[in-house]
Amino acid sequence: MKKIIIGDQIVKSFGQGDEKRNILDGVSAYINEGEFVAVMGPSGSGKSTLMFALSGMDGVNDGKVVFDGRDLSAVGENELSDIRRLKMGFVFQQPTMLKNLNILDNIILPSMRDNRKNAAKISEKARVLMKKVGITELEKRDITQVSGGQLQRAGICRALMNSPKIIFGDEPTGSLNSKSAQDIMDIFSEINAEGTAVMLVTHDAKVAARTERIMFMRDGSIVSELKLPKFDGADMDGRIEKVMVKMREIGI
Ligand SMILES: Nc1ncnc2c1ncn2[C@@H]1O[C@H](COP(=O)(O)OP(=O)(O)OP(=O)(O)O)[C@@H](O)[C@H]1O
Ligand SMILES: [Mg+2]
Repeated sequence: MKKIIIGDQIVKSFGQGDEKRNILDGVSAYINEGEFVAVMGPSGSGKSTLMFALSGMDGVNDGKVVFDGRDLSAVGENELSDIRRLKMGFVFQQPTMLKNLNILDNIILPSMRDNRKNAAKISEKARVLMKKVGITELEKRDITQVSGGQLQRAGICRALMNSPKIIFGDEPTGSLNSKSAQDIMDIFSEINAEGTAVMLVTHDAKVAARTERIMFMRDGSIVSELKLPKFDGADMDGRIEKVMVKMREIGI
């Protein structure tokens, strides 16, 4: 299986001198093309730090990250930002959107910066995505006039605008109620079924149970992994149980 990301012996430390601490302590991790993976672990175990390292959002102190065949430590800042912008999508717990722009304009803003001439095409693509996630009727709304789940859908549209090879989500369902979280997971499943790799950090067994591989972290290391068949709508309870057994085993 071709790997979209390979992280090899990644070391990430914060602080200086005596205060210096290794947050990631020689972590190796990979993501296959089109794979759906989750990262779980206690608060402070290094999940977000790993995601930032694998996505090139943050540099590493040692080891290397290869994305789509390119060693990220060897590419310049401009190319790195192109790779992130064109091949990766990011979704966070709270989407950062601009208050004085409506939902549609927030979704297209990053793409417009690149290519102002194609405004009509860009808006058309945004509308296709908004339809897909069920927020078509909200395009003119201010971001303060929609629910958390709707805002998260808009954030997903924005992340999908450039048809990325992978979507990274750091607790994308973390501030949603259980119904909205499941709806958002349906969207991630659909995106993944269309061939986009998805990597989600989550505390929620129900979210992780939708994926096909879960990496469990503790104290800056990946200590265990659980593989599941690709989710096809069946046996959700059995999958959740498997995740929970593993969580208990590692003491999350
Ligand atoms: N910029 C930073 N400077 C100093 N320490 C940091 C920085 N970012 C993260 N850390 C530390 O690194 C450790 C791992 O943080 P990280 O955010 O990766 O954890 P996490 O597993 O994502 O936790 P959570 O589930 O709470 O989001 C924590 O001890 C945190 O305090
Ligand atoms: Mg985190």
